Parts: sequence; structure tokens; C-alpha cells
Amino acid sequence: MSTNTIAINQRMSRFDDHAQVWLFGYGSLIYKADFPYLERRPARIRDWSRRFWQGSHDHRGTPDAPGRVVTLIPDPGAVCAGMAYLITPEVFDHLDHREKNGYLRHATTIEFSDGGSAEGLVYIAAGTNAAFLGPASEAEIASHIANAVGPSGLNRDYLTHLADALRALGEHDAHVFAIEERLREMDRGSRSARR
Ligand code: SIN
Repeated sequence: MSTNTIAINQRMSRFDDHAQVWLFGYGSLIYKADFPYLERRPARIRDWSRRFWQGSHDHRGTPDAPGRVVTLIPDPGAVCAGMAYLITPEVFDHLDHREKNGYLRHATTIEFSDGGSAEGLVYIAAGTNAAFLGPASEAEIASHIANAVGPSGLNRDYLTHLADALRALGEHDAHVFAIEERLREMDRGSRSARR
């Protein structure tokens, strides 16, 4: 099951009168900036945790076999690191299409790693959206990711690109890195079983 959130996001008028808007990315938007931007700055937002709890029917999986991608879960006191992009409002057509499988634009305060903050937007797929898969153990999530593929490529590439991008930012995300480690263990296990 999936939901197309394009129409709901187009009605989000919060920044309509702004010539430029800050967008916070915490998943593929960190490592795949396939849109024009004026500026890019490492940043963080508060009270959310990144989790591989969202189903992907359109990028890293299919409607019959969804992959697992990240969303943000409310978590008072938590800090989620990512990348902020200064964009012009026209770019939202592309972003709404890219994030259409359950993600809604939310207004948030973005804190830049080199100081200062700004109001901006972040795409979040809430627990109530039809593609939400919810929690599972890190081993189950790794196994799910190992077997999923969709129009944007292997689900495992989404995980490794995200983990690499977080390392490049000097950020530690225990959830993402633990799933990456479980996937590596599974790969080692299947290589030794073939010997
Ligand atoms: C994001 O990256 O900010 C949203 C989730 C995704 O597209 O992977």
C-alpha cells in the first residue's frame, strides 16, 4: 500500500512568500542532491531520530516488495544530523515528486554546524502514512534491505551511501551504523557459506 503525498505538499503554503527556503535532508537528500541549490551547509534538527522504518515502493523497492528507507520519529532531546540546502521554491515540484511515497513537508528550526539557525522545511513520513513499516530489529532491517531493489537501485546502496555520507560529515548514527554492520556480517556469512 502506498500514498501519494504530492497534492498535500503542494498545499503547504508556509514559505510561499519566501524567495529562498532552507531544506533539511537526513536520508538520500544528504548524498543525492539531484536539484539546484544556492548553498549547502551541514546542519542538525532537534527532537527527531532517524529510523529505517519507512517503506519504499517507488525508489528502493516496488509495491509488491517495498524496500526500507529512513524517516524521522519524534524523540524529545534527540539530535539528527544531516545537510541543509538553500533552495528556491520552484525546486519543490521536483522534491514533492521524489518524496511522494508518504513524506510530508514539515516546518522546523535548522541549526547549522558552523553556527546560527534558520526556519526551514524537512520531509517526514509519519507513522500514520500507508507505506510506514515501523520498527524491527537491526538484523531484520538489514536482511530486508539486503533483498530489496527498486527503480532507483539496490536498497543496500541507499544504506551504504547514507552511512558513508554520515561518516564524511563526522557524524555517528548508532541505528544506521548497526544496520550497516549487520549487513556486512550477513555478506561475510554468505561468502563463507559459498566456500
Ligand atoms: C531525506 O533524505 O531528507 C528524506 C528521506 C529520503 O529521501 O531518503
